[in-house]
Amino acid sequence: MPVKIFITRNIPAIGIDLLKEQFDLEIYPGRQPISREELKATISHVSGILCLVTDRIDAEIMDAAPRLKIISNHAVGYDNVDVAEATRRGIAVTNTPGVLTEATADLAWALLLAAARKIVPGDRLMRSGTFTGWDPLLLRGAELYGKTLGIIGAGRIGSAVARRSAGWRMKILYFNRSRRKKLESELGAVKVSLPELLGRADFISVHLPLSGETRHFLGEAEFRLMKPTAILINTARGPIVDEKALTKALQEKEIAAAGLDVFENEPQMAAGLDKLDNVVLLPHLGSATVETRNKMAEMAAQNLIRFFTGKENIYLVNPEIHNTAIGKDN
Ligand code: GLV
Repeated sequence: MPVKIFITRNIPAIGIDLLKEQFDLEIYPGRQPISREELKATISHVSGILCLVTDRIDAEIMDAAPRLKIISNHAVGYDNVDVAEATRRGIAVTNTPGVLTEATADLAWALLLAAARKIVPGDRLMRSGTFTGWDPLLLRGAELYGKTLGIIGAGRIGSAVARRSAGWRMKILYFNRSRRKKLESELGAVKVSLPELLGRADFISVHLPLSGETRHFLGEAEFRLMKPTAILINTARGPIVDEKALTKALQEKEIAAAGLDVFENEPQMAAGLDKLDNVVLLPHLGSATVETRNKMAEMAAQNLIRFFTGKENIYLVNPEIHNTAIGKDN
């Protein structure tokens, strides 16, 4: 009997084609996230799920899939999966690290440039038909060259964002648990405390994983420490920033601007955020390039294939799980 796999939404064909060759595959056909009730009703016989950041995979979902052996998350972040619960049940959890680093770093810079140089209001003005000609006072933004960039979370993506600053000859401050000697030697980056970073950086980019410890990592008190000219960029996870407090800080010009790709309660936003001119809003596009989404789909598929064929190079989030699938009736 072929192993049954369920994919919670259509992903790039490269991943689907790989899985089709090996498994009995079912794909949820909708363009919106599958409802929890529908998901529970669909997975009673599956051994593997390929899921997205929009799917919350918790104990209730795992209860509905008694044969489940692996959850392959089509993302590097895995806060949408209850990993501790999966581990308790002997279910492997995998992710797609590395392949979306550069695309996400690009998007952080796109947001920074857009927020600093008022790209969106400029575009809106052109489309409105009310541009009356060059004006020395029109839409003046912030200069990037030579400024100080603060990186909160200097992992793969945070480091890639820092590396891109070389063209702007920026000073790099970073806040991270461990020292990043390579960043220090390559870019002259300096490890500092969070209050120091918040007080000194002109631009702040967030790259922490979401966990109990990092929820509302930046809120009212932290915005107060930032410069009134500061620009905050978040391409990590929405709940790391207290979005209501951020909206207030932007409304009251406590900080100058923000660029957000992620939100606390996606797809919703905090009330009032969409009325502000000093924020650039994107619909979670960090990894959204053709190349990167292909690589993510391929990697998420390969994680499943390798798991069930007992091969190495599975990107396990919970390595304490042994490959229990091999030799068992799937
Ligand atoms: C996307 O948000 C990811 O974590 O891959």
